Amino acid sequence: MVSGSLSKAAVLLAAISGVTAQGGCTVTSYSALKGAIASCTSITIGDLEVPRNEALDLSLKSGTTVTFTGKVNFAPTPKPGRTKQLVTITGSNIKIRGTTGHVINGNGQAYWDGVGGNSGKTIDKPKFFRLKLSNSEISNLHVKNVPVHVFSISGCSHLTLDGIRIDNSAGDAKTSGGKSLGHNTDAFDVGESNDITISNAWVHNQDDCLAINSGTNIKFLNGTCIGGHGLSIGSVGGRNNNVVKGVQIRNSKISKSENGVRIKTKAGEGKGSVSNVEYSNIVLDGITKRGIVIQQDYENGGPTGKPGPEIHISDLTLSGITGRVDGKAKAIYVLCASGGCSNWKWSGINISGGGSSCSGAPAGASAFCK
Ligand SMILES: *[C@@H]1O[C@H](CO)[C@@H](O)[C@H](O)[C@H]1NC(C)=O
Ligand SMILES: *[C@@H]1O[C@H](CO)[C@@H](O)[C@H](O)[C@H]1NC(C)=O
Repeated sequence: MVSGSLSKAAVLLAAISGVTAQGGCTVTSYSALKGAIASCTSITIGDLEVPRNEALDLSLKSGTTVTFTGKVNFAPTPKPGRTKQLVTITGSNIKIRGTTGHVINGNGQAYWDGVGGNSGKTIDKPKFFRLKLSNSEISNLHVKNVPVHVFSISGCSHLTLDGIRIDNSAGDAKTSGGKSLGHNTDAFDVGESNDITISNAWVHNQDDCLAINSGTNIKFLNGTCIGGHGLSIGSVGGRNNNVVKGVQIRNSKISKSENGVRIKTKAGEGKGSVSNVEYSNIVLDGITKRGIVIQQDYENGGPTGKPGPEIHISDLTLSGITGRVDGKAKAIYVLCASGGCSNWKWSGINISGGGSSCSGAPAGASAFCK
């Protein structure tokens, strides 16, 4: 009798806690998010509407896994300054993944006006993902229609992003003035981060596919970049940390983009360096400005034509950079300050379709830089 009612109670308890755990850890309404983050280490985010002026704040307990399985939509955030980014992910030993058919939609078309940044339409344009992660992995996320910058990777270490798909092709539509509506839609911005690997990314955007402004041991492998400004280091200079050390960019394809391989440093804005950088097995197609561009005169408003040596570019290996640029584009453009660049090893560069212009390039580039 006693044992009978005990087991009944146990069954009831198990049923209740089972329901609670499942209901609480699967999020399909914005109001349920906080509770799930507070009590679960395995969270599923299904179809979800994020209301106006709100964001996903995933400040996660160590060891948490978050799986996106549905359609996540962000309503526009029209209060200037209210929402700096749509998604913030913080923690250590975190796994974020997406399953087939999910998509995270930033509703970028509500913001696009051809100017990006902080100007233009009165509604603010929030960045998409702010990552502050260590020993973590993000895999197979599908993102579309981004207001501006997609992944801000800052203060991260030992982080892998694998199989990320960023489809901002709708942002290619033109303003009445003929500019792309999407602007400043950088895919991966990396700063002050160590041991970062971005592999198997597919990106169609309107700005840098990768932009590293500081950090060490950064890898970009097996990527496809379409429509943007290229695989970039920079701009470097003018920040607290102006050191980029140890970059490997391998086995990637860049098409219909302004640039392919790109390093841009600033003149007269603090000392720093870009060193131990390798670009290898990169295929270019339909490049409209420059196939390979390395310039030490970069400014936000545009290059000045006056390079400075303060951010030294050394130990730069380019190997197997092939393909074509458009007729009016340059295959290779180098502008180094006197003493600004050293110890470059270039091999297997074969880019058809445009001329080259090189000033101050070290001897290792001279066979290709005419
Ligand atoms: C790159 O892609 C190839 C072919 O799809 C695959 O075998 C390899 O594992 C990938 N490398 C990385 C680092 O993901
Ligand atoms: C460069 O590539 C073209 C095809 O784009 C090829 O015909 C040519 O032989 C290559 N040159 C070298 C030196 O590999």
